[in-house]
Amino acid sequence: MKFFIDSAEINEIKELNTYGLVDGVTTNPTLISKSGKDFFKVAEEICSIVNGPVSLEVAATDYEGMIAEGMRLSKIAKNVVIKLPMTLSGLKACRDFANKGLMVNLTLCFSGAQAILAAKAGASFVSPFVGRLDDIGEDGLGLISEICEIYKNYSEFNTKILVASIRNINHVVESAKIGADVITAPAKVLKQLVEHPLTDKGLDIFLGDWQRTGQKII
Ligand code: E4P
Repeated sequence: MKFFIDSAEINEIKELNTYGLVDGVTTNPTLISKSGKDFFKVAEEICSIVNGPVSLEVAATDYEGMIAEGMRLSKIAKNVVIKLPMTLSGLKACRDFANKGLMVNLTLCFSGAQAILAAKAGASFVSPFVGRLDDIGEDGLGLISEICEIYKNYSEFNTKILVASIRNINHVVESAKIGADVITAPAKVLKQLVEHPLTDKGLDIFLGDWQRTGQKII
């Protein structure tokens, strides 16, 4: 399973990268806006830090605009993934980019039907949003199971399932149990994965016992 960080904050991407937890990055217009930085500067810097796929989202909603913006984004670096919304125009642009050998992440996926279309359009990634489905009382992880089940039936579907809108550790662990290809999560959730009260307690006991031996390793 690949770990992407859902962030446009250079410092947290750099920090998580030092732990080997960044196989790729996803951004969106909200994250860019929160960073308060210039989009192209942030995008270039992220692509220089991370070797894996970096999703950069278009702002256009019409097909021609998506093509123009996507081509511009693809020139930033080789690891850019053009992020397109799950609309008819997005699917059309996705097919064109896929034919050119460019990677696309079809975002804002909320149904099995949309995931089928992403695969048919040749997307490299489809991003089902689990947290936002949970927020409206639906079963986000249920959608991940559904998409996995569908994709397993067709060897010609090469689209990776990129679980997005992750809110907690459970979303990560359950996505791994289901067999999703990738999760993208905020730095906070990725760091929480290491936490367990018995780890802290056990470490305290070991350190206390070690001190009582009066010995030193170096
Ligand atoms: C994924 O590509 C999106 O950027 C992201 O996961 C959205 O998450 P949110 O629902 O927490 O905004």
